[in-house]
Amino acid sequence: MKVPTSLSTAFDENFQNLLAEVATADGLLPSAGEIQAKRFLSRSVAPHVQRLTELFNRIGSENPESGLEKYWKKGSNPENLRLAYFLSFMPGNLYRTAAVWSELHRLGFRWQTENFRAVEFGAGPATGSCGILAGESHSPCGLPKASNFALIEQDRKTLQLGEKFFDAYRKHLELPDFSTRTFHRKLSLKQGWLPSSAPTFHLWLMSYVLNEFHESTEELAISLLKGWRNHLEPEGIAILIEPALRLQSRRLLEIRQQILAHDQGKEFQILLPCLGHQSCGALSDPEDWCHEEVSWWRPPYLRLLDEMTGLDRKTLPFSYLVVARSSKPRESILPALEGAKTTHRLVSPAYQVGGDYEFYTCGTQDGKRRSRLKRTNDELSRGSILVNGSPRGDPKATRIDQCDRII
Ligand SMILES: C[S@@+](CC[C@H](N)C(=O)[O-])C[C@H]1O[C@@H](n2cnc3c(N)ncnc32)[C@H](O)[C@@H]1O
Repeated sequence: MKVPTSLSTAFDENFQNLLAEVATADGLLPSAGEIQAKRFLSRSVAPHVQRLTELFNRIGSENPESGLEKYWKKGSNPENLRLAYFLSFMPGNLYRTAAVWSELHRLGFRWQTENFRAVEFGAGPATGSCGILAGESHSPCGLPKASNFALIEQDRKTLQLGEKFFDAYRKHLELPDFSTRTFHRKLSLKQGWLPSSAPTFHLWLMSYVLNEFHESTEELAISLLKGWRNHLEPEGIAILIEPALRLQSRRLLEIRQQILAHDQGKEFQILLPCLGHQSCGALSDPEDWCHEEVSWWRPPYLRLLDEMTGLDRKTLPFSYLVVARSSKPRESILPALEGAKTTHRLVSPAYQVGGDYEFYTCGTQDGKRRSRLKRTNDELSRGSILVNGSPRGDPKATRIDQCDRII
C-alpha cells in the first residue's frame, strides 16, 4: 500500500512524547521519561507485550474462552497490561487505519457532508478514531471541521484512556474541533451492534475487533448489514481492519462473500481492497488469504521494545475491507478510477524477473492470477492497481502486455 512519506514518518519523538504525557497523566507511566527507559520497558512492559501477543495469536484458533475474553482485567497488574497495549499494539493499529484512509484519499474519495459522525466499535484506546485523525491530517478526505467520533468499548479504563488520547492527539494534529462521545458498553450481536435509538453515522469503524466475535461469518455479515441499513448514512462507509493471519484474514474474506450474498437490495458496494464484487480469488484456495502491508518509522521507544520482545513491527501486515452504502458508479466514489474498464490490484510484492515484473493480481473480471508485466519506470508494489491492462495467456500465468496507467 502506498502511504505518503509525511504519514509514515509522523510517529517520531513528538508522537512518543505525546504518548508518554497521556500515559503519565493516566497513571500508567511513573513519569514521561520512562517511555525510553530500558529498565522500565523490560520489566514492566515487555513481559505484558509477550503475553498479549500470545493471547492475540490464540484468538479464533481455539475455543473463545481460551482467548482474551477478559484480558483487560487479567493478571495481577492490569495497569501494565493496559500500558503494554497502548505502547505496543495501539500505534501500529492507528497507523494501519490511517493507511486505509490514505488509500481512500489516493483514489480520490472525498466526503460531501457538512456534519460528520463516526462510530468505532471495540475502540480500545480510541485507536481507529485516532488513525482517522492521522489519515485526515496527512491524506485529507475532506472531513468537516467539527467531526464527532462515538467510541464504544467494554473496558471502562481503556475507554477513558482513549478519550484522553483522542483529546491530546487532536490538539497535536491541530484539529481542534474534532470531538468524541464515549459509550461504556459490552456489545452482543443478539442485541445488534447499536440500539435502535442510536443515530446514523457516516463512518463505521472496526479495528481488530471482529475477530473477537465468535459467531459464524454468515451471522456476522447479516448483523453488519442490519447495522448498516439502520445506522449508516447514504454515501457512508464502513472500514473493517483485521489481522493478517490466515484464519482471521479468511474470516474477513468470508464475511465479504456473505455480505455480497445477503445484500439483496444491492445497497452496498465493496470498495477496497477489491474494487468490485468479483468472487474472492484467495478464498477459492483453502491455503490462501489476502493481506496488505505498510512500512513506517516506528516511534523510538517501540524500536527498543521490539528488540526486547523479538517482535518486528517495521512492516505492519493486516487485512481490510471498505464497504460503501452507495449505488453511485465506482468512479464517482473513487474518481482516480475514471475510465477504468478493468482493474487489476497487486496482491503480492512485485519481483523483478529478467526484464519483467512478476506478481499476483486480483482483478474485477478474472479473480486471482500470477501475472507478468514488462518492467517500466513505474513503481510497482503490493496494492498497486493496473488500469485497463489486457491479460493474455494461461489464466494461471498471464502476461499483461500493457495497461493505460498504474495507480
Ligand atoms: C484487540 S483490541 C482492539 C482495540 C482497538 N480497536 C485497536 O485497534 O487497537 C479489541 C477491543 O475490543 C473490545 N471488545 C471486545 N469485545 C467487545 C464487546 N463485546 N463489547 C465491547 N468491546 C469489546 C476489547 O475490550 C478491546 O478493547
